[in-house]
Amino acid sequence: MNIILLGPPGAGKGTQATRLVDERGMKQLSTGDMLRAAVKAGTPVGLQAKAVMESGGLVSDEIVSGIIGEALDALDAGTGVIFDGYPRTEAQAHSLDALLADRGRTLDHVIELDVDEDALVERITGRFTCANCGEGYHDTFKQPKVAGVCDKCGSTEFKRRADDNEETVRTRMAEYRAKTAPILPIYEARGIVSRVDGMADMDDVTKAIMAILDRG
Ligand code: AP5
Repeated sequence: MNIILLGPPGAGKGTQATRLVDERGMKQLSTGDMLRAAVKAGTPVGLQAKAVMESGGLVSDEIVSGIIGEALDALDAGTGVIFDGYPRTEAQAHSLDALLADRGRTLDHVIELDVDEDALVERITGRFTCANCGEGYHDTFKQPKVAGVCDKCGSTEFKRRADDNEETVRTRMAEYRAKTAPILPIYEARGIVSRVDGMADMDDVTKAIMAILDRG
C-alpha cells in the first residue's frame, strides 16, 4: 500500500507517519527529512536547499522528485510507502505518478489532515526531536516521560529545527495554501482522498488513519 499524508506544516504528518512505520512496517519517505540530512551532510543538493528551506520556500521540483525516485529504488517492491511532505506542487504530483508507474506501484490513499492553521504555530514552535533517533516531542503536548531523556532510545540530546520560528512558519503555510492545497482535486477526481480531523488527540488521529488503511 502506498499513501500520501497531506496537510500544512505542523498538521502531524511526521508524527503519524512514524506510527505507521512502527505499527504497519511501512516506509516513511519524508522529503523534509531527506533534505535536512543533505543540508547537514553538505551535499550539492543540501547546498542548494539550505537557504530555500530557511526562508520557508519550496525546493525545486527536480531536486525533490529526484530524491524520491532514488529512495523508491532503494526499497523492496513489497514495502508500502508513506509519502510525507511530497508531493507539494502539481508538477511533483505528476512526477510521483510517473515514478510509481515506472516501478509498478499504485497510489492507494491520500489522507488529508484537516487542521486549524492558527493552532499550528504553537505546535511547530514548541516542537523538538531526539537528536539520536528522531522521536518527536512537544513542549506542551508531548514531553518525554522522564524529563530530558528520550522515551524511545534513552538519549539525552534533543534538537529544534532552524525553520521552526513563527515568521518562517507563516511563509510555509502560505506556500501550502498557494501550491500544495491545489493538488487535492487531482486525487479527488480519482476517489482516493480521505479527510481526518488533525486537531483530535494524536492517538485518535492514528486510529482514524488505520481505519482508512484497513478499508484496503
Ligand atoms: P517538512 O519537513 O516537510 O515540513 P512541513 O511540511 O512544514 O511539515 P512539518 O514537519 O513542520 O510538520 P508535520 O505535519 O510533519 O507535523 P509534526 O508531526 O512534526 O519541510 C520542510 C521544508 O523542506 C519545506 O518548508 C521546504 O523548504 C522543504 N521541502 C520539503 N519537502 C519538499 C517538497 N516536496 N518540495 C519542495 N520543498 C520541500 O507535528 C508538529 C508538532 O505538533 C509536533 O511537536 C507534534 O508532537 C505535535 N502534534 C502532532 N499531532 C498532534 C496532535 N494531534 N495534537 C497535538 N499535537 C500534535
